[in-house]
Amino acid sequence: MVSDVEYIEGKYEYQVFDDSKRPQDVSLDDDGDLALPRRKKHPKDKFDVAIQHNITSSIPKVGLQVWRAELVLCDFVLHKMYTSSEFDGIVAVELGAGTGLVSMLLARVAKTVFLTDHGVDILENCACNVHLNSALLPSKTSVYVRELDWKASWPPKQDNGASCESQSEFKELERASLLVAADVIYSDDLTDALFHTLERLMSHGIKKVLYLALEKRYNFSIDDLDVVANGYSCFRSYVRDAKGKH
Ligand SMILES: C[S@@+](CC[C@H](N)C(=O)[O-])C[C@H]1O[C@@H](n2cnc3c(N)ncnc32)[C@H](O)[C@@H]1O
Repeated sequence: MVSDVEYIEGKYEYQVFDDSKRPQDVSLDDDGDLALPRRKKHPKDKFDVAIQHNITSSIPKVGLQVWRAELVLCDFVLHKMYTSSEFDGIVAVELGAGTGLVSMLLARVAKTVFLTDHGVDILENCACNVHLNSALLPSKTSVYVRELDWKASWPPKQDNGASCESQSEFKELERASLLVAADVIYSDDLTDALFHTLERLMSHGIKKVLYLALEKRYNFSIDDLDVVANGYSCFRSYVRDAKGKH
């Protein structure tokens, strides 16, 4: 356990609802506000995920908090899980997993999930969250909490207990078809290192798809004398648009 942080244990409750049965007409209530259709409860599809996390964090320990982008990614993953078989039986890797919430959901349907991050405190908390949810995870699913430091050498070191330990694990990593990451774009040197790692991961093994959720943060910059989203601009420099332009 990590000693110098105070943990808040949060419960995230997910319920499934059937989109096809939503009324299409929009109606208004007595005050003229939209009367929105409410989700119907399907108790058999309901499950709780328990996450141990911090409410605030310092930069070196940002992974002890659950960030908004992680919740957005959870919604997306849940939608896919309940409306398709796209994630069934796959190998998935979460980068900069932090508390590992998205991975916990993926582990309900995937064959193998790698929760990867950097630093002992983050990885220990992540492992603790996997343990907290062990009853939720199918016994046939393999869940690995592993160090994958974007700034470190490649392939991931095997001399440390928390890195990719064996050749067979590394082979399994190559079989990953899904990469997910949330709120990993906030410092340009980390963005460079992340894309370097993504390039390496994606050039090994089978074809992979990355789903990345991020917050476009605006700050006042002395250099620009303006409110700018420099972190987002750095990210965009790595992404090609449909016409092939960066
Ligand atoms: C803002 S947190 C996001 C955590 C989680 N994905 C979420 O959204 O709740 C950024 C994550 O990137 C991880 N990270 C930072 N530097 C890293 C590095 N060099 N290699 C791997 N992960 C790193 C942090 O430890 C942290 O977990």
